[in-house]
Amino acid sequence: MKDFMLLLLFCHVASPVKHSLKFFFTTSSGVKNFPDFVAVGLVDEVLMGYCDSISKIPEAKQDWAKKLGDDDPQHLEWCTQQCLLNQYEYKADIDILKQQLNQTEGVHIFQKMDGCEWDDETGEVNGFAQFGYDGEDFIAFDLKTLTWIAPKPQAVITKHKWDRDRANNEWYNYYLTQHCTELVKKYLDYGKSSLLRTELPSVFLLQKTPYSPVSCHATGFYPHRAEMFWRKDGEELHEDVEHGEILPNHDGSFQMSVDLNLSSVTPEDWRRYECVFHLSGAKNDIVTKLDKAVIRTNWVSPSEFPAGPVIGGVVGLLLLLAVCITGVFIWRRRDNGFRPANSSDSSSSDPSSVKDAALN
Ligand SMILES: *[C@@H]1O[C@H](CO)[C@@H](O)[C@H](O)[C@H]1NC(C)=O
Ligand SMILES: *[C@@H]1O[C@H](CO)[C@@H](O)[C@H](O)[C@H]1NC(C)=O
Repeated sequence: MKDFMLLLLFCHVASPVKHSLKFFFTTSSGVKNFPDFVAVGLVDEVLMGYCDSISKIPEAKQDWAKKLGDDDPQHLEWCTQQCLLNQYEYKADIDILKQQLNQTEGVHIFQKMDGCEWDDETGEVNGFAQFGYDGEDFIAFDLKTLTWIAPKPQAVITKHKWDRDRANNEWYNYYLTQHCTELVKKYLDYGKSSLLRTELPSVFLLQKTPYSPVSCHATGFYPHRAEMFWRKDGEELHEDVEHGEILPNHDGSFQMSVDLNLSSVTPEDWRRYECVFHLSGAKNDIVTKLDKAVIRTNWVSPSEFPAGPVIGGVVGLLLLLAVCITGVFIWRRRDNGFRPANSSDSSSSDPSSVKDAALN
């Protein structure tokens, strides 16, 4: 009994949570009708604030972040300053880079991601700051040596220049290891009712056509720390399974899908499969048995093929013709017959429409 209690205690303690704070800065040149500087801040992958070169004023994207701005004008001022300073700095950087790389014409994008991950159990902090140019890694800060890593020859000039700026590198060290952790804790404390909640998703089985993989789709969960997998006879499957990414919904929750290719599974064996959703911090998993009756689809069953034994070449030929015509018919149906809700297949890119489709 004592051992059991200890084990329970251990299990509880052994679930540390890594919280994160990330800032993304995007500076562009040559892109028409788009602000040339955009910054966003995310706590635990939830959009917290936004600012751009047109409005210049940070905009809170969560109720708790609005309240924080009202209660703590100094913090709001810090955010406003960051928005302006980063804007000037990265606009200057992109101009220097364009010159250096002889790319004064055309569209160019300079991106930065920085922030930290904080383990609420061990207190361990991982800070990061990295830049990208035109969609590829450009330069990254190394917290161990307080120098810059240039993965490409084009970035070597920048590396040497930035390495010499000791004061700036010391600032990065302080910001990424100390200030960033203080900020995560502040945000988690302010937004705890929302950021530290757990919300279980709705789970659906979706299938585009009777021959498509069956997609196990979970939507509406929070936080983004979740796992989903298929199992057969109680064992996790790795073959014929395709895992989708965790994607944000518009309402601050998340969604994900895992597809299972059933083309070599006989109908009698279907009952041996089930989809399991596990949310970090939740006691119970959501288990969905594979069952034809609960699969949602927009597939409209085509008219039956001529059935029964086929005698003689002429009938065979007629059948072939019929199959061809039916084939065209099926194709047309697939083309026109799908309702807008066909975004419920796993390849959809609009999370909210999937959610709506799934709930219809
Ligand atoms: C850019 O052009 C100048 C002069 O035309 C040349 O000296 C330099 O090597 C070029 N730089 C790159 C990165 O191609
Ligand atoms: C499913 O598996 C079969 C054979 O195992 C393969 O031919 C087919 O392309 C797969 N389908 C998908 C959508 O991956």
